Amino acid sequence: MAIYAIWNNKGGVGKSYLTFQLASEYARQNPNKRVLVVDLCPQANSSSMLLGGMTEGEERLTEIHSSQPRRTISGYIEDRIRSPYMSPNSGGGYVSNVSQHNDRIPSNVYLVVGDEQLEIQASRVTSATFPGPQDAWRVVHLWIRDLITDILDSWNNEDSCVFIDCNPSFSIYTELALSAADRLLIPFSADGSSKRAVKAVLSLVYGVRRHAGDPQSDYYLESTRYRMAFPDIYMYIGNRLTQMNSSSASAFKTVVNEIGDEIWGVWQSSPQEFCVHPNGSPTPNSKRSFKTMFQYEVNDANTASVVSGALGIPIASLTAGQKNVAGRSITVNQSQLDKQVPNITQLVQNIE
Ligand SMILES: Nc1ncnc2c1ncn2[C@@H]1O[C@H](COP(=O)(O)OP(=O)(O)O)[C@@H](O)[C@H]1O
Ligand SMILES: [Mg+2]
Repeated sequence: MAIYAIWNNKGGVGKSYLTFQLASEYARQNPNKRVLVVDLCPQANSSSMLLGGMTEGEERLTEIHSSQPRRTISGYIEDRIRSPYMSPNSGGGYVSNVSQHNDRIPSNVYLVVGDEQLEIQASRVTSATFPGPQDAWRVVHLWIRDLITDILDSWNNEDSCVFIDCNPSFSIYTELALSAADRLLIPFSADGSSKRAVKAVLSLVYGVRRHAGDPQSDYYLESTRYRMAFPDIYMYIGNRLTQMNSSSASAFKTVVNEIGDEIWGVWQSSPQEFCVHPNGSPTPNSKRSFKTMFQYEVNDANTASVVSGALGIPIASLTAGQKNVAGRSITVNQSQLDKQVPNITQLVQNIE
């Protein structure tokens, strides 16, 4: 069992889209495992896609948000605000089987639904980290770990895999996700701010200083003080890197190479932060073998991705032809699918 957080300190790099595709495809490839998605982003984009997309998914989200009790991440957070330092063991009640809402999703996918109320709750979560018992910070940072433990217990600890979708900012929820996760997947796109974000992840999570005397994050300092584990970097996922137009393609390549050098630098200075995989593999000893293990490229899926996300149909089960998206007819080409499907399938084959 592994818990993956999907995070980069930058919006729009594909965290939610990849969470949706990864969870669905992992479930398809591993029908005997349960797959859990914890949507820790107030925007609830991955929940919306899993629940059926732009129209139906959004309707289901509204229904779930207005149900009593509120079977969402915010329902659980509310339990914890009430009982911050003692686990109420209530996590098992906050999980939904996705296929009951969207039959395009394999029946072994489960979801703790995202909720915009997280924003309103954030200040109360943060204030729970400093009064109270001496190790309040540590106990609060294990809330999501507790939630996952409760859910896995309710499944009698059957073999499973967990994906946590995060919001971009280094918010309290991102900290909770990182404290829950064993492994980190870092999506990035081909632009200068992605290069900066790659460095920011290092400094925020692992305390890597760019300049002597730079302040370190509370997350890093407190996790170290309490000897809490940090997630290991599992993979950098370059997302939407391919472009049709050849002049932009070469500009892209330059930026992607720059980011690749940055990541290679991270490995050289902090190899202990990485998770060598699959289990038992030799440690990479060249730039090439490093890249094979820790870097993956996901193509821009163009129309296929729009249709996949808008209708809540994972890319591997999308078929070619005319699709109705919000009243408009959109064509998905077989040639596009022939490229996209193996790309996602192979990515998931690299996830243990
Ligand atoms: N590989 C891809 N191909 C095409 N579109 C993509 C791809 N990955 C993400 N997108 C689109 O890019 C936008 C931003 O992605 P999203 O997952 O919401 O980013 P984040 O969660 O990091 O903010 C969404 O509209 C999403 O559908
Ligand atoms: Mg998102």
